[in-house]
Amino acid sequence: MATKTKLPTSQFVCSECGYNTPKWLGKCPACGSFNTMQEELVKVAPKTPDRPALSSIPTRAIPLSKVGYEKSDRVKSGISELDTVLGGGIVQGSLVLLGGDPGIGKSTLLTQVSAHLSKTHKVLYVSAEESCSQVKMRCERLGLNSDGLYLLNETCLEDIEANLDDYKFVVIDSVQAIYTAEMSSAAGSVGQVRECAAKLMRIAKSRNITFFIIGHVTKEGALAGPKVLEHIMDTVLYFEGQQEDNFKLLRAVKNRFGSAQEVGVFEMTDEGVKSVSDYSNLFLSESRGVAAGSCVTPSVGGNRCMSVEIQTLIAKTAYGMPRRMTLGVDYNKLVVLIAVLEKRCGLPFFSSDVYVNAMGGIRLNEPSVDLAVCAALASAANDIPIDKYTAIFGEVGLTGEIRSVPYAEKRVLECIKTGFKRVILPAKSMKSCEKYANKIELVPVQYVGQMLKALNLR
Ligand SMILES: Nc1ncnc2c1ncn2[C@@H]1O[C@H](COP(=O)(O)OP(=O)(O)OP(=O)(O)O)[C@@H](O)[C@H]1O
Ligand SMILES: [Mg+2]
Repeated sequence: MATKTKLPTSQFVCSECGYNTPKWLGKCPACGSFNTMQEELVKVAPKTPDRPALSSIPTRAIPLSKVGYEKSDRVKSGISELDTVLGGGIVQGSLVLLGGDPGIGKSTLLTQVSAHLSKTHKVLYVSAEESCSQVKMRCERLGLNSDGLYLLNETCLEDIEANLDDYKFVVIDSVQAIYTAEMSSAAGSVGQVRECAAKLMRIAKSRNITFFIIGHVTKEGALAGPKVLEHIMDTVLYFEGQQEDNFKLLRAVKNRFGSAQEVGVFEMTDEGVKSVSDYSNLFLSESRGVAAGSCVTPSVGGNRCMSVEIQTLIAKTAYGMPRRMTLGVDYNKLVVLIAVLEKRCGLPFFSSDVYVNAMGGIRLNEPSVDLAVCAALASAANDIPIDKYTAIFGEVGLTGEIRSVPYAEKRVLECIKTGFKRVILPAKSMKSCEKYANKIELVPVQYVGQMLKALNLR
């Protein structure tokens, strides 16, 4: 008589080479990498005729015109900045991942959203990290009270699934604290996080439930389970900001239903997280126009444009090797721009330490900030401040030429709105902006040298 052997439900797979083993190993025997074995569920496919196929009706391809969909309006979260970052509101049945440093206010933000949504929908807040009474305490502190909001203190995903009933919105706080009973590894491990997220995705799509999932950030700043979560999610948001700052930024990293460039600005108050709608002076300093080394650039993120000040400091190198440090601006970009200024404009930086900072903790990844960084560096090197009412944008090429950038018109309009009197822009972008010449002085430039001349920096 054949004995029935229990099939293993999980296995350990090397993330480098794909080698699999039933037990965890510190070093992969196939490729020799350390710490790469991650637990995965074993998916058994039906092979024998006595085991029926999972689905008896095979899926067929259908023409696009025959595809039906529900035109569901987006649901407002009650927090205007969050709606903007989401692309106009919450899309039903989507998975939204909210990542951020410990204590930044992730639970606070989603408690507020849940309370607002619970006025019109059934909302479940799964708190795997805090007890129900702690969540209640937070709700009371924030002045939220809603009978439509249900709390669940549970960490096992299968039990959470059994509790989902007819909830339309579910918050999972946090994905690192829940586990699936099908895997033996501890909650928070890469395998667990990935499997839990995949299960939640299947539930969301099949039952049209919207999930807000909180994810903790690792030491390196990535969402735990390096990037594995981001592929599964519809929208990935990062909540950032210095612990001591009142202002926090919410950035979309990925969005299937809106722009991934969007930035939301929030203020942390005693009554919780509040949207900041007037951010025109948030990224500008008082010393602008007085101290040398600062320059303002209109930066576009998603649908909005913000004036951001870039500050630079140049100090004499104490050691043989000069230092370059950046905050909010790409390091490699700075190194290239310094080389362009040295070679094309004759500004010496080889014996100086250079520090660059974008105000307010914002990250400027656009090439359009190049010219403003160059202007700030030249201003610091010459110790001549740049006029307070001048804004600059443009991409700088290695030959020192200034290239046109997208959304030139939008940037000029932002400069007019913020009260600037002069804008230095790429000559190639001039055509689309000429119509604003009566509202703001437009200075088209073709080379970095021309920009320096326009600012009297050479
Ligand atoms: N009694 C209070 N009064 C005012 N602010 C408070 C109070 N309690 C907490 N906070 C603020 O709320 C923030 C914590 O918010 P929250 O618990 O939502 O963060 P979190 O991102 O969920 O943290 P974690 O990663 O630990 O779950 C704290 O940084 C603090 O500034
Ligand atoms: Mg929390």
